[in-house]
Amino acid sequence: MEPVPKLVLAYSGGLDTTTAIKWLSLERGWEVVALNIDVGKSREQPVIESRGVAAGAVSVRIIDARDDFLRYFAFPALAAGAIYQDAYPLATALARPLMAKLLVDVAHEEGATAVAHGCTGKGNDQVRFDVGVQTLDPGLEIVAPTREYAMARETQIEYLKEHGIDIPWGQKGPYSIDENMWGRSAEAGVLEDPWVEPPADAYEWTADPETVSLAPEYVEIEFDRGMPVRLDGAELGAIALVERLNELGGAHGIGRLDQIEDRLVGIKSREIYEAPAAIILHTAHRALEAMTLSKNQLRLKKQIGVEYSELIYNGLWFSAHHQDIAAYVGSTQRHVSGVIRLRLGRGRATVVGRKAPDSLYDHALATYDKGDTYDQAAAVGFINIWGLQTRVQARKQLLGSLPETLKIAMPRGQE
Ligand code: ARG
Repeated sequence: MEPVPKLVLAYSGGLDTTTAIKWLSLERGWEVVALNIDVGKSREQPVIESRGVAAGAVSVRIIDARDDFLRYFAFPALAAGAIYQDAYPLATALARPLMAKLLVDVAHEEGATAVAHGCTGKGNDQVRFDVGVQTLDPGLEIVAPTREYAMARETQIEYLKEHGIDIPWGQKGPYSIDENMWGRSAEAGVLEDPWVEPPADAYEWTADPETVSLAPEYVEIEFDRGMPVRLDGAELGAIALVERLNELGGAHGIGRLDQIEDRLVGIKSREIYEAPAAIILHTAHRALEAMTLSKNQLRLKKQIGVEYSELIYNGLWFSAHHQDIAAYVGSTQRHVSGVIRLRLGRGRATVVGRKAPDSLYDHALATYDKGDTYDQAAAVGFINIWGLQTRVQARKQLLGSLPETLKIAMPRGQE
């Protein structure tokens, strides 16, 4: 007899992937290993395990990947300044390549020939999973049941009931939610109307910044070569540090975003994000770079950050392009060590203090007070040379040949 083929499914414990277990084993004849990857979601593990088994998984494996997620995915993105379309710190997008990697690892351990995920055919996540898995092991088959059958919620509940799996799924929430330690996102429901202000229930991690009554608080974040390592002087592991900033920032209403975003598949979608820790850390990290990187480094690094955000968003984590960019970013972080002090209050994290051992800020050069070492007389010669090309060009070309639109901006007599 042929052995039953084995598949590893990325299992959240929710309705979609629970249905997928039943469907994959019953309709497609797979032996299903359900793999739950914890990147900071709140669902309880005992429930995940019993649900998976009830739905017919041969085993349910749970991996706590929170530390790896922060250290190898979220923090490198932080160091790069990777923010998608000027807003989204990429929580979901960063977790997918890690999940793809763990799916492949477990498939190898289990002797499975396929992996599966519960993504639909409309989103970015299917791309991130599929491209990741294909890159890491092109020999693995990829099955995406929800992309194939697109069953409505009620149909899924019915389908499970028919097969003796009667789980109280509770009321469907008004939104589609994804969350991990780097942030939470809500989409669909009334949020699909871009004119509608997000109702209060779209937010879960953050207090309303308009009504928060908490007095402002200060926090000091220390970085070591671009990585956050201490909070208020206490050395903290990645998980504790990010948890603490999510709580603290959330209580002050920090980290809410309402974004119209371009998906890779060409759809514009409306997303509500909450990412208190990510926003606070990006704000602090940027402030420390302003102290420790030169003007040229800051300019190029900003462009590289945009490029980095695109490759993360677009599912190209496991690419040579990423390796090249990571090498550049790593090199820029050699002196990005120091402490940033922020005031948290009323929905904002404001940088109020910075210090860094390798700071390029030179008080003796910057000061208008006693002790100034800057040679003001030297500025005259510098300006003479700096302005030379503009003076030559103005004399030989610019007068009398102005485009219509510029005339109004020129001094009288030159139009
Ligand atoms: N738009 C974000 C991304 O593609 C988040 C999607 C999360 N999914 C959800 N159902 N809220 O990375």
